[in-house]
Amino acid sequence: MNHLAKVPDSWHSGIPSIDQDHQNIFDIINYCWQQDHAHDLSQCGCFEHFIKCLAEHFLHEENHMKESRYPDYESHKNHHQNMLKKLEEKKSALKAGENLLAFCNSILFDDMVKTDLHYNNYLLKKGLIPA
Ligand SMILES: [Fe+2]
Ligand SMILES: [Fe+2]
Repeated sequence: MNHLAKVPDSWHSGIPSIDQDHQNIFDIINYCWQQDHAHDLSQCGCFEHFIKCLAEHFLHEENHMKESRYPDYESHKNHHQNMLKKLEEKKSALKAGENLLAFCNSILFDDMVKTDLHYNNYLLKKGLIPA
């Protein structure tokens, strides 16, 4: 698949399947931006799709964390739940023509960069992924 924009290497978790999820979700946002749907992600179905893919990704990531005995698993999972709650709240209080692009970007950034990179550090320290 051709990516419209690539997730920067410095944001990679080091786990190929998780990084692929992040790229796929990033692609949803970029696709909408390219199609000029950015002003109304809810109308084109992209917002629903974004939420669905993100929820699947969170489960995937949580399973991975459990398997690798990540000590911050519970707090990371809670953080995921809070993000999904924020998305559901946004969905039920959408204003006509509201631009969701920045909102979706900030949610994805919050996952990939603010929290997942801690998991990456743990995996590196434990020697579970190559440095
Ligand atoms: Fe995460
Ligand atoms: Fe993630």
